[in-house]
Amino acid sequence: MPGFTVITLFPGMFDSPLAHSILKRAREKKLLDVRFVDPRDFTGDKHRTVDDTPYGGGQGMVMKPEPLVAAIESAKKNLKQPRVILLSPRGKLFEQAEAARLAREEEIVLVCGRYEGVDERVKAFVDEELSVGDYTLSGGELPALVVIDAVARLVPGVLGNAQSPEEDSFSDGLLEFPQYTRPEEFRGMRVPEVLISGDHEKIRRWRAEASANLTRERRPDLFAKTQSATAKPRAKIYIALLHHPVYDKNREIVTTAVTNMDIHDIARAARTYGLKGFYVVTPVKALQKLSLKIIAHWETGYGAEYNETRKDALALARVTDTLDDAIIDIERETGEKPRLVVTSARKGEGRSPFTSLKNMLVIDPSPFLILLGTGWGLTEEVLARSDIILEPIEGDSDYNHLSVRSAAAIILDRLLGTNSIKEKP
Ligand SMILES: C[S@@+](CC[C@H](N)C(=O)[O-])C[C@H]1O[C@@H](n2cnc3c(N)ncnc32)[C@H](O)[C@@H]1O
Repeated sequence: MPGFTVITLFPGMFDSPLAHSILKRAREKKLLDVRFVDPRDFTGDKHRTVDDTPYGGGQGMVMKPEPLVAAIESAKKNLKQPRVILLSPRGKLFEQAEAARLAREEEIVLVCGRYEGVDERVKAFVDEELSVGDYTLSGGELPALVVIDAVARLVPGVLGNAQSPEEDSFSDGLLEFPQYTRPEEFRGMRVPEVLISGDHEKIRRWRAEASANLTRERRPDLFAKTQSATAKPRAKIYIALLHHPVYDKNREIVTTAVTNMDIHDIARAARTYGLKGFYVVTPVKALQKLSLKIIAHWETGYGAEYNETRKDALALARVTDTLDDAIIDIERETGEKPRLVVTSARKGEGRSPFTSLKNMLVIDPSPFLILLGTGWGLTEEVLARSDIILEPIEGDSDYNHLSVRSAAAIILDRLLGTNSIKEKP
């Protein structure tokens, strides 16, 4: 949960937005915390002066560096590792991907400018600058509220179960599909039949199509970014093969054995599709040893000389005790906790289509960890921890017992494959 500290000359401007609806409830549920620091409290003169005329002349006033930097430093004193952000029209555009990134921060300090802006030297005390759009507002307070609102919506629990940020416009890089509510007919306009059909699969497809068509028509820029088969993913993608905790045939939680073929095949698929790493997760020391032996054989042993390409692939493989160890390793490597993507052969609520995740990987530069289960699949506990549950892979039959190696290859190709499959006209 990110806690916000806002540095502003006008904390009163936040009262009403934070006291209504979703933000109000989020604060009541302790899912959102917003505090304020006023730079005027860090002035030394009787008039509590925070601005001055610009060097070189010109219109308006500029925010002085001393009170603003003192306010930032005071805010940071009570925080562990805050991300300090200056709201500025010159900043990087604040988009959904930025909101998703900030939702994973623990503490955020938002610095609001006023007047003609802030003294340039203040920039040395912030980590980044964000703009909410190509227009000039009178101060950073409204942009700060935009950031708080967009980030808060992504914090689990803020929207409640009924609403899901996954379906919002931009969450997968596309605009949202059209929504309808009762009555079925309003002034001669009927709700599209498919939405009252009760056929969830048909509804899902209709919405995905409507979403793509709307985006293509209204925002060709967004569409081009997300739909191109060759759009390069900005995400840093990892994969993990879990041998524990997984279910056995009777839905008991067990630890499965490591197999030579899984390690080879998934490593080679991971290398083919440009992944950053492949984790073999098993708590059993003997199986860890075996995995390392398999990897070392192809990386440095006789296998390395015999087959150079396999050496390349196996170099991606790492062995960890637990899923959490893999997460920590990725965080160490990328500076961010990965978003967990779960794959499951079971159908159920809230499954994301492959296209949504494919789009997300193109626009979101975060690390993503794709989890593969062995045995009879990943446990509910792992599913509950995930950010995204992918829809099952299905063929045109009632049989879907793919080996984890096959599933891995299909999933990676659907998400990252660059051959475009031309539809017949
Ligand atoms: C009047 S603006 C300063 C504009 C500045 N003279 C310029 O042209 O870049 C005052 C403050 O409002 C905030 N602000 C204005 N427009 C913004 C935007 N589009 N995004 C983020 N912050 C903005 C910033 O904190 C800025 O320092």
